[in-house]
Amino acid sequence: MYEQYWNLKEKPFQNTPDPKYLYLSPQHEDALMKLTYVIAQNLGCGMLTGIFGCGKTLLARVILKDLGPQKFCTAYINNPVVSEPAEIIRSIVRSLRPQSLPEKKTEMLIDPLLEKLYNIFLDNIRDGKENIIIIDEAHAIDDLRVFEQLRMILNFQTEERFLLTLILLGQPELKDKIDALKPFTQRIPIRCHLGPLTEEDVAKYLEFRIKTASNEAAPTGDLKAFFDKETVKAIFAYSGGIPRRINTLCDLVLLSGFAKKTTKIDANFIVSIVKEFNLS
Ligand SMILES: Nc1ncnc2c1ncn2[C@@H]1O[C@H](COP(=O)(O)OP(=O)(O)O)[C@@H](O)[C@H]1O
Ligand SMILES: [Mg+2]
Repeated sequence: MYEQYWNLKEKPFQNTPDPKYLYLSPQHEDALMKLTYVIAQNLGCGMLTGIFGCGKTLLARVILKDLGPQKFCTAYINNPVVSEPAEIIRSIVRSLRPQSLPEKKTEMLIDPLLEKLYNIFLDNIRDGKENIIIIDEAHAIDDLRVFEQLRMILNFQTEERFLLTLILLGQPELKDKIDALKPFTQRIPIRCHLGPLTEEDVAKYLEFRIKTASNEAAPTGDLKAFFDKETVKAIFAYSGGIPRRINTLCDLVLLSGFAKKTTKIDANFIVSIVKEFNLS
């Protein structure tokens, strides 16, 4: 809509988990390195916590993309809130091998499902593929029996190795939930956390996303002011350094700038948009 006006090839601030827009702040880099390490070293389980909108789902997408289908079988579960514990195992089986879900109701029971999953894991490993299970929004799991099922599949090991890597993503309360489950907590060797971006990182984030969406190698004229110290300060003040909030604000800034035929985006303009759209 406003792309042409700002000389952009696409919208730079969409709230979608598009790996090409990943800005590797030091904490995103650290989390990516640690989760990749869990997978590469077959450590069993890793956990990434962080407040809403900080980039957990985006990092999961980046990891899934990097893994590729040749050497990995992946299941990404983004809605782990289930009506009964067997349902979480069913979701994993469905993601890894949809055709293998049993017809008979009796086989939907937890034990046959776990056995099926175990065999799927083993088959994949025999085929030279690693099994990766990512559970997003895991903080929303209230039924402790679901965590118990996840712990059960972590028991799937041979003498030398885990048959899968489980990665849990969730908001900070996930940590408390897991820590209350002693047997589970001991099985998570790697934990990482994403907080808000610093003001310095917000400046780099803005520049990176605009460059990625630009027609030119470097953004020209009007958009340069986006990275001025005072402008960044205003964006940081509103967003608290949370990428999702930065995106929402900056998308409206570009849209309004276009509608008003603004030529320069500065701190005053940012503040006026926060007021106009009642962003809080
Ligand atoms: N490091 C980052 N680089 C670029 N964009 C990011 C980054 N972190 C978050 N975002 C943006 O913010 C949006 C919200 O992040 P998301 O991964 O959904 O957060 P969470 O899963 O932690 O709630 C993403 O869709 C993405 O557009
Ligand atoms: Mg998310």
